Amino acid sequence: MTSTTAISPLHVGHIRSQIPILSREIKGKPLVYLDNAATTQKPQCVVDALCHYYLQANANVHRGIHTLSEEATHAMEQSRHFLADYLGALPEEIIFTKGTTEAINLVASSLAKGKWFRPGGQILLSYLEHHANIVPWQMVAEQHGLEIKVIPVTDQGELDLAACRALISPNTQMVALGHTSNALGTVNPVREIVAWAREVGALSLVDGAQAMGHTRVNMTQLGADFFAFSAHKAFGPTGVGVLYGRANLLDRMPPYQGGGEMITEVRFEKTTYNTLPFKFEAGTPHISGNIVAAEAVKWFTAHAPEAVAQHEQQLLQRATHRLEAIDGLRIIGQAKHKAPVVSFVVEGVHHHDLAIMLDIEGIAVRTGHHCTQPLMERFGITGTTRASFSLYNTLDEVDFFADMLKRAINKLR
Ligand code: ALA
Repeated sequence: MTSTTAISPLHVGHIRSQIPILSREIKGKPLVYLDNAATTQKPQCVVDALCHYYLQANANVHRGIHTLSEEATHAMEQSRHFLADYLGALPEEIIFTKGTTEAINLVASSLAKGKWFRPGGQILLSYLEHHANIVPWQMVAEQHGLEIKVIPVTDQGELDLAACRALISPNTQMVALGHTSNALGTVNPVREIVAWAREVGALSLVDGAQAMGHTRVNMTQLGADFFAFSAHKAFGPTGVGVLYGRANLLDRMPPYQGGGEMITEVRFEKTTYNTLPFKFEAGTPHISGNIVAAEAVKWFTAHAPEAVAQHEQQLLQRATHRLEAIDGLRIIGQAKHKAPVVSFVVEGVHHHDLAIMLDIEGIAVRTGHHCTQPLMERFGITGTTRASFSLYNTLDEVDFFADMLKRAINKLR
């Protein structure tokens, strides 16, 4: 006889009580926040930690021997250690950035500057990519005579894995791929693709922006050379991100920006650079944000990942089921493995009009191309309406959203 262990449900009411903004009203209606792929809301403990830094511990880091500076340095380096442990990495492999976008630009520019890419080499991207994982590579490709290859997506919004396998060749020098699509929610088989890249000696970068607020990611298991995420999509502050890179690669890569902190010695004749990770952290960093990024991850991990996944899949299933029943509505992206994102178009109704009508009911969704214009083009559309859920959303909110959506569509037709 097989036995299954039931997963304890998530205490959504308790989670919501820790996030003050969820109690606010919009135009006299309770806020229903379904724009989590754009940015998540912040728990009180994250906001408190930010306030604590500015009210009690504000000082520059790595630059002073006075007590406050030492405390700020210690707090920021503790956060780096925590994030390294969480990701299964070494502290020197954790570089604080402004966000995922800067992290990808850092890798692309530094590899190019370090002459990593040979002319005629290929960079493999996919149709699912956010512009942040397209444009930096295009810029590098133009400058260094590289070719961009693109993994196609199926009508379900999944990567075409047979085509992907065929596109990876000894000419491939970098495979840069999103873990989870921001526009459709597709969760990609990144481990598998990263392993294919490694087989041909290509480097790999995983854009984890849409993964961190939903699931645990471990660098040893993932096997990628680089991984990037933004704190604000995982309950932390804006303007802060993390780049993970293998130490043996980062060590050989030239700095991205010059300035204070990233040097060992500056002479007009020659400057020598600091060790990792500081070589890549020029200037005064976002100290409070870097400290608080760890608080946000701690808050998220206080909830069992299985319970979070179960709850988010319930939200996704309910939303999918309710929206599929709406006449003229087409969900874009029906992948087997999806994060809690529902993106859709409605015949005869413009997505911006829908967003305005939903906002009147207190419902926040995102509309447009979601910074994925090639993907929109692939589906022959200019944009979608996207509802993206997080662990603090409820089934009642999904139902209210579906009801109000139906009403808005009827009014607009
Ligand atoms: N990349 C963010 C989104 O998908 C901003 O909305």
